[in-house]
Amino acid sequence: MRAMRTIKKTNPGNVSAKDDAAKPRRSGVKTTPKTDRSPAKTVAEKPRRAADKTTAKPQPRGGSAKTPARGEALKPRHAAPKAQSKHNSRGAAVETQAVKPRRVGTKLTRLLSLNVAPAKPAASAQVSREKSRHAGTETPTLTQWLLYCRSGFEQDCAQETLRQARKHKPVIAEQPDIINNSGYAVVALNEQALSFRELIFARQLIRLHHSIAALPDRDRLTPILNAITALPGNFGALWLEVPDTNDGKTLSAFVRRFQPLLETALREQGRLLDDIKSARLHIFFPDKASVLIGSSDPYNSSPALMGIARQSIPAEAPSRSTLKLAEAIETFMDKSEQTRLLRSGMTAVDLGAAPGGWTWQMVSRGIRVTAVDNGPMKGVLAKHPLVEHLKQDGFKYAPRKAVDWLICDMVEKPAKVAELISAWFVAGWCKHAIFNLKLPMKQRVAALDAALGGIRTRLDEEGISYKLQAKQLYHDREEITVFLTKTKNR
Ligand SMILES: C[S@@+](CC[C@H](N)C(=O)[O-])C[C@H]1O[C@@H](n2cnc3c(N)ncnc32)[C@H](O)[C@@H]1O
Repeated sequence: MRAMRTIKKTNPGNVSAKDDAAKPRRSGVKTTPKTDRSPAKTVAEKPRRAADKTTAKPQPRGGSAKTPARGEALKPRHAAPKAQSKHNSRGAAVETQAVKPRRVGTKLTRLLSLNVAPAKPAASAQVSREKSRHAGTETPTLTQWLLYCRSGFEQDCAQETLRQARKHKPVIAEQPDIINNSGYAVVALNEQALSFRELIFARQLIRLHHSIAALPDRDRLTPILNAITALPGNFGALWLEVPDTNDGKTLSAFVRRFQPLLETALREQGRLLDDIKSARLHIFFPDKASVLIGSSDPYNSSPALMGIARQSIPAEAPSRSTLKLAEAIETFMDKSEQTRLLRSGMTAVDLGAAPGGWTWQMVSRGIRVTAVDNGPMKGVLAKHPLVEHLKQDGFKYAPRKAVDWLICDMVEKPAKVAELISAWFVAGWCKHAIFNLKLPMKQRVAALDAALGGIRTRLDEEGISYKLQAKQLYHDREEITVFLTKTKNR
């Protein structure tokens, strides 16, 4: 067993590789007994509930651990990002300077051999600077977090997670490698709590406790059970998960067979309760030979298996795009908000409406829609009593009367869409909006920062109170979806 590395408490302002020499773990760190055949490595941890900060009520969904992962066909982004340097503008440069430049892993074994090791402080100059600002505080407990994301967005996911953490405290842990197109990322933090709701690219947020790099073919169960035994507390649910990638899909049958074995064993041990308020246990198989074991806080994570809120396409909806709005409504609004904000008799404008998937979501709730698009509305929406179709430019259109909702799925630069949305709110033309921001292939985080920052600045200047939430939804591709709603005036 590798000993847990700790940071020298006596000299926190001047960390070097020597300071980071392996030492036995101190209190609060659990280790798992090494089995003969498959060593389970343990990640530093605090008592689970304390670190998993709660922000929202749990909303269990239909997702069942028995449901196989069924990802859509994905075009892998083969182009590996350039090594991050001060000149690399992929995301904010400041974000990347504080961590060791990331190597792009090509093999899973590489991640497992590196990221399962206890997080250790990075030795870069930037980190030393951050650390010296941190001097005088207690030795931080280092933790690792497992985040699921859309394949191809691993770097963006890790980048924004680290940034969120840094808002609370400098990140002093060396970062694990990111495997491009893997559908997940692992980040190492010290004491920072993360807010799932505020992460755009993360589909799921899991506190990582163990990883096992070499599960024996003939008995995968025993080492996993041993690792779980070392964790404190009981669990409200057991979710076996795989990456949402083409490779991940091939593991679905294996996971389906494995689920009852593990579930039975945990129930016999009294570790598994059916309690939606208790931490969920996640057993994530990047492949058949390895596993990452973690837990999620139902109040600070996605309520859906694999973080995927699947939607079925309504027979009448004219396009698959309808699923994006359906998922956005489920993701951003709880049931009472949906009832309050999406009422029959309300009005909406849909910019870039054709062929009508988003419009369909509104009219199916009894909402009257002005659909603006030069293209044709299709199917039932071509002649729907609740739809007025205007062949106009969405950027020039102005409503005769204020409406309740603005929805917008036009393919345009994020900054231009953001400006349009801000203008609608400032003019008082709508109270709520759901819109897509299409992401450029490069500098995605920076483009989003600019777009969302622009909206915030504009609304703040006008004294408009609002709630803004953004997420890359399962049904989003190279884009994210944003929910913006006016709240009571300050
Ligand atoms: C992704 S599609 C919208 C799909 C639609 N949300 C649905 O669910 O069926 C984008 C649409 O935006 C429209 N569009 C792009 N620029 C526009 C503009 N300046 N004014 C109006 N429509 C525009 C396109 O014609 C296209 O139909």
